[in-house]
Amino acid sequence: MIEGLLPELEVIRKDFPILERTLAGGQPLVYLDSANTSQKPQCVIDAMVDHLERHNANVARAMHQLGAEASEAFEDARDKVASFIKAPSRDEVIFTKNASEALNLVANTLAWATGDLAIGPGDEVVITEMEHHSNIVPWQLLTERKGATLRWFGLTDDGRLDLSDLDRLINERTKVVSLTWVSNMLGTINPVAEIARRAHEVGAIVVVDAAQAAPQLPVDVTEVGADLLAFTGHKVVGPTGIGVLWGSRRVLEQLPPFLGGGEMIETVRMDRSTYAGIPHKFEAGTPPIAEAVGLGAAVDYLAAVGMEAVHAHEQAITGYALEGLATVPGLTVLGPQDAASRGGAISFEIDGVHPHDVAQVLDSRGIAVRAGHHCAKPAHARFGVQSSSRMSSYLYTTPAEIDALVEGLLYTRSYFKVG
Ligand code: ALA
Repeated sequence: MIEGLLPELEVIRKDFPILERTLAGGQPLVYLDSANTSQKPQCVIDAMVDHLERHNANVARAMHQLGAEASEAFEDARDKVASFIKAPSRDEVIFTKNASEALNLVANTLAWATGDLAIGPGDEVVITEMEHHSNIVPWQLLTERKGATLRWFGLTDDGRLDLSDLDRLINERTKVVSLTWVSNMLGTINPVAEIARRAHEVGAIVVVDAAQAAPQLPVDVTEVGADLLAFTGHKVVGPTGIGVLWGSRRVLEQLPPFLGGGEMIETVRMDRSTYAGIPHKFEAGTPPIAEAVGLGAAVDYLAAVGMEAVHAHEQAITGYALEGLATVPGLTVLGPQDAASRGGAISFEIDGVHPHDVAQVLDSRGIAVRAGHHCAKPAHARFGVQSSSRMSSYLYTTPAEIDALVEGLLYTRSYFKVG
């Protein structure tokens, strides 16, 4: 038995009906693409079906019993998310479409901000070379539009942030530092709290992309030093179509609205409007209601398993996978080589075999991995590669699935006659 594995792993697997699937040729599914999207436990599926079957109505505007039930369910989901990330206040939790929209909300509203948060020529925004495109492009757009400067942390050869010039990079001109907590490509867990301390010393705000962190680490928004933090529902065993932006009340109240429309207003006249308080100021239009209910059930599920236990499981599986991958000749793991520094995503290359071919051969054996640039082209460019193959585990991943991956990779090498 590998230390750190969830003791109830077989029970947990039974909660996820899709894991019973077989694929073409009767191959059992080996799902190693959870950093892309996680699978869903029955309780999440049931919560959404029950909502749609019995309680469906619009929220905050339907003056009838179903409307009240739907509103209560929606706001209850906000409470559950607030507790999952230890938000000081439920009003600081904004529902978005996904993590990308949450990050775009921040970068766009900062473009219109006045006062302390206003950004203009001479100001700097700092990101890192290991960001997902969703945490690069919005900041490029912001800095281009405002005449500000985009800067970034480079990476060390072992796939960590190069912090050697931290104090020079984050300086009195820095207005925003936005970085991923856990890299979706290199797997690296970044020292966000340390970087946030420096950012706050110079008066910058800290935006944390927690899309890969929220599924696998216990999140405490205050402890990590975030002013704003984004994640998505579908990677935390919840549904697609819903994401979360958490922000401190101080920052959210200073930011102007993002999208205009229903329910984000206080009052509307023909010449001008005034806006609702947070979080509703940022939630124009009918929100993702059934999705919020599903997300509430998802974070409750993870909280019941315990995020410390989920993290320990991820680390145990990651350590086992790193050992297994090291036995495949010609395979290079990108990013840190020790499990303690990583999340559950491991990108790798195999000499002489294109990542798409790796994924295809594995798929023919029922093993699902991701191949490509993983929406992190600059991180790939830093290591001189265009793309990679990536396995990513979660709380339902077993050592036997890692064994199947390793066998599949050895077979891939022989199939392409590189072994
Ligand atoms: N879905 C993206 C990934 O696979 C973010 O990493």
